[in-house]
Amino acid sequence: MNQYISAALAEMDKIVISKLEHTGSRALDPSSCCFLAAFIRATGARKVLEFGSGFSSLMIAREIGAFEGNYLLSIDDSRYYSDLARESFENSGAQARVQFRVAPLRPKFYGSRLLLSYCLPKGLLEALGPFDLVLIDAPYNGCGREAVLYDAFPAVSPGGYIILDDANRENMEKADVRSWRAAYGDAIRPVLLEGIGKGLNVIEKLEDAHPAPFPVADSLLASVKTLRSMGCLLLSPKEKKTDVNIQ
Ligand SMILES: C[S@@+](CC[C@H](N)C(=O)[O-])C[C@H]1O[C@@H](n2cnc3c(N)ncnc32)[C@H](O)[C@@H]1O
Repeated sequence: MNQYISAALAEMDKIVISKLEHTGSRALDPSSCCFLAAFIRATGARKVLEFGSGFSSLMIAREIGAFEGNYLLSIDDSRYYSDLARESFENSGAQARVQFRVAPLRPKFYGSRLLLSYCLPKGLLEALGPFDLVLIDAPYNGCGREAVLYDAFPAVSPGGYIILDDANRENMEKADVRSWRAAYGDAIRPVLLEGIGKGLNVIEKLEDAHPAPFPVADSLLASVKTLRSMGCLLLSPKEKKTDVNIQ
């Protein structure tokens, strides 16, 4: 097994998560938080990119805060939850350099695949990177996380890592990882940790690569799923509905 994953698994039980601080079932599972913190310590990651602001943002900020050159860019589609995460970070006393950014979700073509992606200025992630670590914990509710890696991949250092949460879900994150393997081949090395929280997939980026094109039938299916996700987003309640701005 990868040395950093082994080290994090060996040390994660020493990390303490306050039950009072943890924000509940929507947040990264407490044991996943412990692994994340231990993994940051093991790898020495200093520049982190996160999709899905919340309790995990605080965990990351606390881990990187003491180190020179630290930076967390935390992206969310909800103004409400982004502000909540920023307030909790500001009240925590953590010293990290953190930027919370709200980016609406919108459909976008990746080759022949219509996928849901965060609407960010072109080149922004590359300009703010390279990142040592990316945490993918959003969009939520099965909206499809596939596009997130295509957007983030060029901004990850070779030798850097991507951690995907909810990685045990059969036709969702497991399918995303299959697509990424098909797209990037030997440029990535995913390791599924089934027993941690809802499953974490720790993906090592070995080298820069461009995603390979997908078969048309496969892309058609992915595009139909995206249209269904868009429908769900538009119908989703309260704060998500007002914040999600599909263009
Ligand atoms: C799977 S959650 C994960 C959020 C984050 N990584 C965490 O650990 O809290 C995905 C989405 O839920 C929303 N969210 C964040 N904090 C929340 C909370 N306390 N309750 C409900 N939804 C939340 C955000 O819009 C986020 O994109």
